Amino acid sequence: MPLIRLDKYLADAGLGTRSKVKDLVKSGQIFVNDIQIKKSDMKIDNEKDVVRCGTKLLSYSEFEYYMLNKPQGVISATKDDLQKTVIELIKEDKRRDLFPVGRLDKDTEGLLIITNDGVFANSMLAPGKHVDKKYFAKIEGRVTEDMIEHFKEGVDIGDDVPTKPAILEIIKQSEQSEINITITEGRYHQIKRMFKAFGMEVIYLKRLSMGKIVLDEALGLGEYRKLTSEELAYYGR
Ligand code: URA
Repeated sequence: MPLIRLDKYLADAGLGTRSKVKDLVKSGQIFVNDIQIKKSDMKIDNEKDVVRCGTKLLSYSEFEYYMLNKPQGVISATKDDLQKTVIELIKEDKRRDLFPVGRLDKDTEGLLIITNDGVFANSMLAPGKHVDKKYFAKIEGRVTEDMIEHFKEGVDIGDDVPTKPAILEIIKQSEQSEINITITEGRYHQIKRMFKAFGMEVIYLKRLSMGKIVLDEALGLGEYRKLTSEELAYYGR
């Protein structure tokens, strides 16, 4: 990795905005290899230099990747004046440039990846990549076997073209059914609209996986963890 300016290093390490970290440097709180540094434009070699703020050792990573088990009631956005966003759920010293990879509706739960790596996000979202997204849903009404065939052919949800083929698995067939569905697109309210096309309402929706990345069952609603190196390796990271 090339040399990094000290103020960028500190901001990326989660210490705050560029102006906040400049103040930290000026006030003598930053040490590089045990030497107090007062200049924010010093160049840091991430592989060799040891940087600390007071007694706290810092670590730099250009990119961060979290898996969040999104609860209902928070929106998939970076900032909002009125509503709580998924980014606000990431509590630790976080970078300021994090964003959610795609969107889940406010009332949808489950897997949401949060990162600052735009290339990675694009590889998960670009229409040409056809990354599978698997959901569990509860449906008001009886989901029938013939719907499996319809979903396989693609459903007219009122857009210019029908949806791409989707895999529908019926788990519980009753007045209130339970299903798994796998789609490869991410159209607005896609799953709700696919069932609406059959006169049915989705009453609970949870994303289980996105490509090779599967929601960790150990995560309660609102909890998150970093993606593992194995999970990132699937995407060349
Ligand atoms: N489809 C929906 O209808 N909502 C979501 O949040 C995701 C997929």
